[in-house]
Parts: sequence; C-alpha cells; structure tokens
Amino acid sequence: EIKDIQAIEILDSRGRPTLSVAVELTDGTRQEAGVPSGASTGTREAVELRDGDSSRFGGAGVLTAVANVNGELRETLAGRTWSSLDEVDEAMRDLDATENKSRLGANALIGTSMALARALAAAQGKPLYEWLTGFGEPARMPVPCFNVLNGGAHAPNDLDFQEFMVCPLGAPSMAEAVRAGAEVYQALRKRLVAGSHATGLGDEGGFAPNLAEPEEVLDLIVAAISDAGYPLGSDGVGIALDPAASEFYSDGGYVVNGSHLSSSDMIDRYAAMLDRFPIWSIEDGLGEQDPSGWKRMTETIGERVQLVGDDNFCTNPAIIAAAIDDGIANAALIKVNQIGTVTETLTAMRICHEAGYGQMVSHRSGETPDTFIADLAVATGCGQLKTGAPARGERVAKYNRLIQIATERPDLPYGLGR
Ligand code: PGA
Ligand code: ZN
Repeated sequence: EIKDIQAIEILDSRGRPTLSVAVELTDGTRQEAGVPSGASTGTREAVELRDGDSSRFGGAGVLTAVANVNGELRETLAGRTWSSLDEVDEAMRDLDATENKSRLGANALIGTSMALARALAAAQGKPLYEWLTGFGEPARMPVPCFNVLNGGAHAPNDLDFQEFMVCPLGAPSMAEAVRAGAEVYQALRKRLVAGSHATGLGDEGGFAPNLAEPEEVLDLIVAAISDAGYPLGSDGVGIALDPAASEFYSDGGYVVNGSHLSSSDMIDRYAAMLDRFPIWSIEDGLGEQDPSGWKRMTETIGERVQLVGDDNFCTNPAIIAAAIDDGIANAALIKVNQIGTVTETLTAMRICHEAGYGQMVSHRSGETPDTFIADLAVATGCGQLKTGAPARGERVAKYNRLIQIATERPDLPYGLGR
C-alpha cells in the first residue's frame, strides 16, 4: 500500500529545475527518484511540464509538476493498495488522460513511477535490478558507452555531431570496461592538450573542443584508444556515434560543418566512416523529419552497423512497433522520461527484444545522481548503456552503480550478448 507521495523541485546537472519524488509505503519503506531532462528532444516525446513563469528560472520551473504529484497523484494513489507497478502506472495515465502526458507532466509521472519501483523492490528486500525482472531475458552487465566528446546541442562549439562514444566491447568484465573508458578519456585529454585544443567539458562530461569535422574527431579518438593500449573494435574498444541529426536537418537536407548534404550524401558519408573507423553503432544518423531516408539508410548500411532510433522513436511502444513493420532502424534508444512510466519503458524494450531490435538504455543530457537506468539496463539484459563520459558526478554515479552490481553479482555475464 502507498502511504504517501511527495515531490520537491531540485536542480539537474545543468542547473535547471527538475523533480525529486519520494514514495512511502505503509510498511515504512521510503525511496526517492530524480527526474532526467533532455536538450535535443524528439517532437513526439511525452511532455515535460515546465511552469512557463518567466520570473523563475526563465520559465523552466517545475512547481506545477511538483503540485501535480503532491496534489492529484497523491490523492489518487496514496491510501490505497495496488497489485503492481503496472496498475499504478496505468492509473496515472488514466488520470492524466492525454496522449502525451501533457496535463500532469511526464516529469511528474516518471518520477513517481521510478520511486515506486524502487520502494516496491526495497519492500521485498531486493536490489532494483533483481526486482525489475525484465521479460525473461537473463540479466547481464551492459557495455558502457562513454560519450567522450560533445558537440551539437550539448556544447557551445562548432561541431554538429552531438556524441562520440567509446565502448569497451571486448572488456573481460564491468570493472575493466569502466577502467578502459576512463583510460581512453584521459588519453584523449592528453591528445587534445598536445594539439592545443580546449579541454572544457560539455553537458555529458565529454570534452568540447572547437573541432568541426566529425572525421577529425574520430581520428583523435582512434589515436586515444591506441595510446591507452586497447585494440580497436569488437576485441577492444569500439566507437558509437549519436550525430542527433534532427538538430542539423534543414531544408530537406543536412548541414555538417557548413556543407549541405542530402539524405543520400549522409548515408554515403556514414558508409565511408564505417570503412575507416571502428564504428559499431550510429544513433539518429538522420533526422526524425526524414523517414524515407531512415528506410534507405537501414537498407544500405543496416547490415554493417547498429542503427539506433532516438528522436524518431521516443521510447514509444506504438511508434517503435510501426517502425519495425516499416523496416526502419535495427535498435531503439531507451529513455524513461521520453515515455513517462517504467511500465511503458519495459513494454518498448520487450517489443524491440521480440523483433530482434537492439536496445540501448540512455541517460539524458540533464541528469541527477539517480542511478535507476543502470539497474534497468542490467535487469533487461539489453547489453548496452550510454550515460555520458567517465567524468561529472551525475554520469559517474551510473558507472559506479554498475561496478557495485557487478561486485554483488559476479555471475552475471558482461557484454552486448550477441
Ligand atoms: P538529450 O540528448 O538528453 O539532450 O535529448 C541525448 C540524446 O540525444 O541521445
Ligand atoms: Zn540521441
């Protein structure tokens, strides 16, 4: 039985307001969750409710969402016995009664859903990764995808591609994977210093030098992986990209470092990158505005590389199911606040799993120290988690949680699992 639910307004890693939600059960169990927030959002994401009162935080306050938790959600959910998290998530969706959770706010709903999942796990004396049993897929330690160099909406440089990730695909264990990520990160820093590039950090903790050409960045990262002493690719450290191309889509094409490229030009550019660099995954290689390009990209390079839909999928089970039917992408990015409940997040992952689509669990560029997604990635056995650089407390918290889980459960295998 839920005894009480309380939300407060806190700050995220960008210094913008977000929610912390606490759920208390009648047995005295009390657990909290911090709500993440994106910057390069898909248009069909569940709605993050912001106050719009320009006298506070430039309109970004979340007191309305806080009031919705402490008011309507609390009145509906507290003082009642519920049979499952699914049932509560459904009750919240019914109460909101909109398609995109815009009335009560997806930020209000996801915070409540995450805190409740934690409370239910704690009440049973189980760690979250064990309680979130996924869907029959055995638990496994995910490959951490470290975003070591930031551009796009996450950094004030001229780099159009948003994320360059290093992924220790061939690491023997979780701890060694985190070590590899951190060593490559430090090696990259040395390379940047040697080239007189800035080593300030972007929103996700990656370096944000003023480089503009994606291939130039890839050369540096390959050099850093080698400097750190790791083999390139599946036996060692591979590279994943999230260009977040919806952000540089313009007039039916793409603008990369000042050049105008068609959808087909972009696909050719990626194909050339696959020839030159150990890239195993590309997320949002094309924009959400370009579904026909996505289909062509999947047909052209989908056999060679994981193609992850983020802005176009929004962790939405119905959108992902339709995309699977249409032959678009071969994997989905999974962000809990994009869809707004833990139950729907698991449904989206199940749909991917059943279709043979990959699933990469993800943080947002605005984060709190909350580590829910580390447990989610382990529980579902999806094999991949991206949660920023091996730097900045809110990113490192997730990687440290993975090390903690791996220490508790040395029996769990590490890696993509395919
Ligand atoms: P966001 O970026 O959290 O700013 O949306 C992450 C991503 O695009 O994957
Ligand atoms: Zn993305």
